[in-house]
Amino acid sequence: MKTYNWAILGCGKIARKFSKDLQLLSNANLYAATSRNLDKATEFAAELDFEKAYGSYLEMLQDPNVDVVYIATPHSFHKDHALLCMQHKKAVLCEKAFAINQKEVAQMIQSSKENNVFLMEAFWTRFNPDFLKVLDIIKSKELGTLQHVKCDFKFFAPFDDQHRLFNKDLGGGSLLDIGIYPVFTALMTLGLPDTIDVDADLGMTKIDENIEITFKYKNGASAKLSSGFQCTAFNDSEFYFENGAVRISRELNRPMLYKKGYQIDEIHIEKEQGNGYQLEAEHVMDCLDQNLIESPMLPLSFSLDLIKALDKIRNLTSIHYPNDDH
Ligand SMILES: NC(=O)c1ccc[n+]([C@@H]2O[C@H](COP(=O)([O-])OP(=O)(O)OC[C@H]3O[C@@H](n4cnc5c(N)ncnc54)[C@H](OP(=O)(O)O)[C@@H]3O)[C@@H](O)[C@H]2O)c1
Repeated sequence: MKTYNWAILGCGKIARKFSKDLQLLSNANLYAATSRNLDKATEFAAELDFEKAYGSYLEMLQDPNVDVVYIATPHSFHKDHALLCMQHKKAVLCEKAFAINQKEVAQMIQSSKENNVFLMEAFWTRFNPDFLKVLDIIKSKELGTLQHVKCDFKFFAPFDDQHRLFNKDLGGGSLLDIGIYPVFTALMTLGLPDTIDVDADLGMTKIDENIEITFKYKNGASAKLSSGFQCTAFNDSEFYFENGAVRISRELNRPMLYKKGYQIDEIHIEKEQGNGYQLEAEHVMDCLDQNLIESPMLPLSFSLDLIKALDKIRNLTSIHYPNDDH
């Protein structure tokens, strides 16, 4: 089995969690931690057991030993950082939101093709065993047809105009940060909607601090999706079928609820150690083993559909980013 040298680009919060999960994979070598600041990279590398530390993103990309880069910077930089990696022929796993808008995602996809390098959005829930079970239930029709999806992702975040959650220059707003998960869930299970309704509360920095979205489909199906930083919700995803319902939790240790007719059962799906990020990293390396430049499970066409839906939702509000003007 080939071992891949991973580099982290941006040593922030999620990069730390991801690196801990990467340690669980025998074919992943924690090779380089990269920050704009060498001291920070050195500290991160020592804490998480990376072989090397770089104080410049570009310097790390010039290292021929780097096979694959995990991009964990704020969304407003994803496009530029992904292009830089791919121009240096590095495979890329880039955090969600993949980029700020459709135009940026299209540029990333084009660069992957031109440079013949792997590119995937880091959407760990695509590999979550509970979600995979939901997809099986939909496909098998054991509960009939899926009619409605309800999905929330809300947590309280104290207002800070400089923090990436609220700062427009860093792609702030709940939709691109966490609302993307409910939108992803609806697209994966029901497909692209025929109509979209949106009600957003924009805060002082003119980003959505709360957003409620309704998707409607010509076949009668619908989805109610929401995200926000104003309060904390259960953050479950519910799937209502003709003859039953399923509820899954974002927390990996909570059982799935499965209702058929009047009977409600708990389904416990055995999970590996870790936070689930190792599953996406494992998949990336499986794809690289097969010389693929995109994932069959999370194809780039899906990431493009996802950002198109997010753009449409934003167009129905007045959420506008500086990146939209470039
Ligand atoms: N998959 C998930 O479950 C999950 C969870 C949380 C976040 N995310 C995504 O991961 C990305 C990063 O989120 P995070 O919470 O880890 O953010 P964070 O803690 O703020 O870290 C972002 C890192 O980006 C780098 N960076 C480069 N230019 C920057 C700039 N101008 N301003 C601020 N940081 C800059 C910094 O690293 P250096 O200083 O080391 O260069 C910083 O530590 C976001 O796109 C977010 O949506 C995903």
